[in-house]
Order: sequence, then structure tokens, then C-alpha cells
Amino acid sequence: MAETFYFKLFMFFLLPVSGSDPEVSCVFRQSCMLPCRIQLGSDPLIHWYQDSAGDVGVHSYYEGRDQLGYQNQNFQNRTSLIQDQISGGNASLLLKEVKIQDEGRYKCYTSIRTGYKELFINLKTEAPVSDIRIHQDGNRITCSSEGIYPQPELTWSTEPPSNTTLQNRTTVHQTEEKLYDISSSLTGPDGSDRIYSCTIRTRRNQRRAILRQKSVIVSSRQTSLSCSASNGSASKLLWRFNHSQVIVSRSSQSRATVTEEWKLHVKSVSESGGLSLQDLSPQQGGIYICELSNEEETLVTSTFLKVEDRGGTKRHPGVSMVVVAAAAVILCVVLIRRSRNQKGQNTFLIDSKLNFFNQLCIMIFMTQIFLYLTGLQLYEEATR
Ligand SMILES: *[C@@H]1O[C@H](CO)[C@@H](O)[C@H](O)[C@H]1NC(C)=O
Ligand SMILES: *[C@@H]1O[C@H](CO)[C@@H](O)[C@H](O)[C@H]1NC(C)=O
Ligand SMILES: *[C@@H]1O[C@H](CO)[C@@H](O)[C@H](O)[C@H]1NC(C)=O
Ligand SMILES: *[C@@H]1O[C@H](CO)[C@@H](O)[C@H](O)[C@H]1NC(C)=O
Ligand SMILES: *[C@@H]1O[C@H](CO)[C@@H](O)[C@H](O)[C@H]1NC(C)=O
Ligand SMILES: *[C@@H]1O[C@H](CO)[C@@H](O)[C@H](O)[C@H]1NC(C)=O
Repeated sequence: MAETFYFKLFMFFLLPVSGSDPEVSCVFRQSCMLPCRIQLGSDPLIHWYQDSAGDVGVHSYYEGRDQLGYQNQNFQNRTSLIQDQISGGNASLLLKEVKIQDEGRYKCYTSIRTGYKELFINLKTEAPVSDIRIHQDGNRITCSSEGIYPQPELTWSTEPPSNTTLQNRTTVHQTEEKLYDISSSLTGPDGSDRIYSCTIRTRRNQRRAILRQKSVIVSSRQTSLSCSASNGSASKLLWRFNHSQVIVSRSSQSRATVTEEWKLHVKSVSESGGLSLQDLSPQQGGIYICELSNEEETLVTSTFLKVEDRGGTKRHPGVSMVVVAAAAVILCVVLIRRSRNQKGQNTFLIDSKLNFFNQLCIMIFMTQIFLYLTGLQLYEEATR
């Protein structure tokens, strides 16, 4: 009996000293559990300190309740113990709304009547790379992301690989919350249709943004634009026009929603993200940007669409000239007929009337032929 008691006591003091501190990764703005076990015993006393900040009081518990008189302001309203599990030996601390500054070494000091125990935990904070953007402005391609911790690393690559080093400039900025914003610009060689990809990497994860460009010229009123296909399942789809206007958006669960301004022009959106457009006019010419993204990647396809004005809407001027001429001839015939039917009243008057109508008709006819010929010439000049 006594032997096992001393062995237990020995282990009790020995264990905390051996090995390096266990590490816990906590995600920015989320909740995090710092584990700690205590020996079973009545009336436990628990003190959590931030050791690395000079034993700052984080949370205390004794006499059967939380004691927050010495809690540092930084931890106010963010800490709790699992009350119903303390008697079962669980002194784990739940830390909410994790901040980057919470990073450091923590001490869990517990004591019962038979002895005390100190346990250390290394807390690491992380803010993974979330949204990554890539866009082009002239021959400058910019890739950026915000709110990352620890400091991320950014790399560029092209496909096919470039045989020269690309002129690139990366800037990193740290916010008040200690998060990193990163942005990198690269000047692409003119007239190349390379695929550019940018990877932003931090301890927890990495994300890649890929930009490919295309140019499409159509002269019909409808066309289909494709979105780059990736093997992975895309969870988000977004089509934009000229960088700002949203055309279609779709998330993994929902159906594609087309914005009001584009209802007329969007015929359908395919499973793989392709966009079918209809009723196009030169006004719909511009840059169509498709963004497909999943957990790891954002694929951006930028398509420059030019809609050419086609003859279909501009009728051959000769057609309308012929219509007007035919109407004039019919009018002449009707007028001459009517004047003939009125014969027998005053022959002189009727004859002069008839003459007048004949002359009028010949004049209209000549004018028509003249207009037709000049119209045809103008049209031919315009379409040459
Ligand atoms: C903690 O909560 C109390 C009561 O809701 C509030 O008055 C106090 O300002 C909060 N403290 C912090 C640091 O948020
Ligand atoms: C303590 O309790 C929490 C919440 O139930 C649990 O997640 C955790 O694993 C427990 N820790 C230990 C050391 O038992
Ligand atoms: C890179 O490749 C292109 C064509 O592939 C070639 O014209 C150019 O000279 C090469 N540049 C260098 C520095 O090797
Ligand atoms: C970016 O520029 C750095 C030097 O400023 C160079 O070492 C690196 O190779 C360039 N990256 C690419 C993809 O060319
Ligand atoms: C797509 O699949 C090919 C081969 O199956 C692989 O090499 C490539 O890395 C994959 N690409 C992505 C984006 O998953
Ligand atoms: C869209 O962009 C193109 C090319 O930059 C421009 O010619 C066109 O006027 C723009 N269209 C709209 C509706 O802004």
C-alpha cells in the first residue's frame, strides 16, 4: 500500500518535468481547448497563467467556483472551465475568440490536499489563408490575400515555364491585430498566353490562384464561355463582367443565381461553370471573369469578348426603296382610275387633272429611281 502511494507521489512530481511542452494550435477568432488533468481529490484549486507574459492571470477556480479577481483584462469574458467535469479531474480551459496575441506558453497549476501539479502548454495561433484573389490590369498581374498568421510565403509560377525570371514585387503588411496582408505584382511579357499561378502558404494551409486569359470574337447573337475545368470539385462559382458587375453566383449547395441586369442575356449555366449567353450586342463586349474555387484553389478565367455588329440588323437599303416605289406606283394607278371615273362633268378640267396626275406620278417614279441608286451606292461604300 505505502509503496504504491510513494510511487504515485513520485510520478506526480516527475511527469510535468519530462518531455517538451505539448502544443495546441488555435485558430484566430475561434474557440480553443487547453487540456489539463488534475489528480482526483476534494476541493481542487486551479490556476491558469500565461507563463510567457510573466504569469499573467488567465483563470482561477477554488472553493468550488470561478475566482476572477486577478484575471487579466485581456482574458475577460473569454475563458471558462468545464464546470461539471472538474470533479472528474478535468481542468481544461476553454478560450474563446482567440487572438493572435494569445500565442505563448501557459501554465496549469492545480493542487489538492496531497500535493500540487504544474503543467505547461504551448499555444500557437494561426489564421489560415482564406480568400485569394488574382487579377490583371494591363500586363500587370496581382495576387493578394489578407488576414493571415504567421507570416505567409508567396510564390509565382507560369505554364509553360518562363525561361527568364519574372519581375515581381511582394509587399507584406501587418495589421493592428497582428495579421498579415500580402500582395504581389508581376509584369507579364506582352502578348503571351501563359497561365499564371500564385501560391500563398502559411503553417496551416496554402491556397493557389490561377489566371488564364482568352479572347473570343463573335458575330452571332449568342455564344458560350467556358470556365477553366479543375479536377477537384468546385464549391463556389462567380461570373463577373468588367471586374465589377456580378452576372452569376453559385455556392456548393445552392442553384446558380443570375443578377437582374443579366437575366436577359444569360441562357444557362452549365454544371462545370460554363456560361451560355444570348441576345448579344456590341454593348455586351468586355471582360468576362469566371472564378471557381474550392478549399485549395481559386481558378480565374478571364475572357475578352468582342461582339461584332452584323449585317443582320442593318437591312439592305434597296429593300425599303423598292417598297416605297411600289407604294407610289399603286397610289398613282388609284388616283388615275378615280379621275377617269369622274369623266363627263367638265372635260377640260378632267383632262388637266389627268395630266397633272400623270406628271406627278412620273416625277415620283424618277425620284424613287434616283434615291434607289444613290442608296445602293452609299450602302456599298459603307460595307466595303
Ligand atoms: C465583459 O462582459 C461584461 C458584461 O457583459 C462587460 O461589461 C465588459 O465590458 C466585458 N469585457 C470585455 C473586455 O469585453
Ligand atoms: C475535458 O472535457 C472536455 C469537454 O468535455 C473534453 O473535450 C476534453 O477532452 C476533456 N479533457 C480531459 C483531459 O479529460
Ligand atoms: C526564352 O525563350 C524564347 C522562346 O521560347 C526565346 O526567344 C528567348 O530568347 C529565350 N530567352 C532566354 C533568355 O533564353
Ligand atoms: C521574383 O523575384 C525574385 C527576386 O526579386 C526572384 O528571385 C524570383 O525568381 C522571381 N519569381 C519568379 C517566379 O520569377
Ligand atoms: C488534376 O489531375 C492531374 C492528373 O490526374 C494532376 O496531375 C493535377 O495535379 C490535378 N490538378 C488539380 C488542380 O487537382
Ligand atoms: C467593359 O469593358 C470594355 C473594355 O474595357 C469597354 O469597352 C466597355 O465599354 C465596358 N462595358 C461596360 C458596360 O462598362
